[in-house]
Amino acid sequence: MSDEGSLYQIRSLEHGYPWGDSHVQVLKGLDLAVPPRSFVCLVGPSGSGKTTLLNLMGFLDRPERGEIEFFGRKTGAWTEHELGRMRLTDVGFVFQAFYLLPTLTVLENTTYFLPLLGITGARARERGEEVLVKIGLKDHLSKRPGELSGGQRQRVAIARALAKRPKVILADEPTANLDRATSETIISVFKDLQKTENASFVFATHDTHLVGYADQVFELRDGRVLSPKGGA
Ligand SMILES: Nc1ncnc2c1ncn2[C@@H]1O[C@H](COP(=O)(O)OP(=O)(O)O)[C@@H](O)[C@H]1O
Ligand SMILES: [Mg+2]
Repeated sequence: MSDEGSLYQIRSLEHGYPWGDSHVQVLKGLDLAVPPRSFVCLVGPSGSGKTTLLNLMGFLDRPERGEIEFFGRKTGAWTEHELGRMRLTDVGFVFQAFYLLPTLTVLENTTYFLPLLGITGARARERGEEVLVKIGLKDHLSKRPGELSGGQRQRVAIARALAKRPKVILADEPTANLDRATSETIISVFKDLQKTENASFVFATHDTHLVGYADQVFELRDGRVLSPKGGA
């Protein structure tokens, strides 16, 4: 049954990878419902499939079996073009490896996708600057990634995702390179956007501090999600 009220309604999701002549099954019939305006953490041991699940939720990969409904729309039959469009407009992704472009400045990296959304020139620059100020990088706008610390690069990757104002931000260990104070700043930016822009956040994380702020915590175990535990 379609559920218009969910951001994600995931049913019986199965996914794995080729391993030599065989296949490693990572997700084994996973069910997950994420309401709109969520602040959700995915936890679980290393190798439990958190990154695999985020990639599927971000439509970077197609599941082998099962269904991902996004805002009540079944996505299984969508074309690559439709999925690409949704990745651009609705999903902001913060990868563990950041994937910043080394020859572009902090501001240029942050605004990188905006022309594809029809936002150019001064409007793009203002939006980029606004996000970078919020996350504490206003003094680094014209630096290149190679001149930044790991934590600063992580914040640029977050800024690039936020600048699109997507419906959901998916992030893999978003606080892994941040000290406690910076982490607090970023979390308060996330919480603020959750309220002001109705944005949702799905984080794969080991950071117990970040987990403490989640509305819901989902634990991956044996390819499924254990019953949700309450968060803050
Ligand atoms: N591209 C891939 N090719 C082969 N195996 C993979 C690939 N990505 C992940 N895996 C395997 O899938 C399992 C789950 O990985 P992952 O989703 O990265 O877990 P987590 O993010 O929770 O650490 C691991 O055993 C990992 O080795
Ligand atoms: Mg991972």
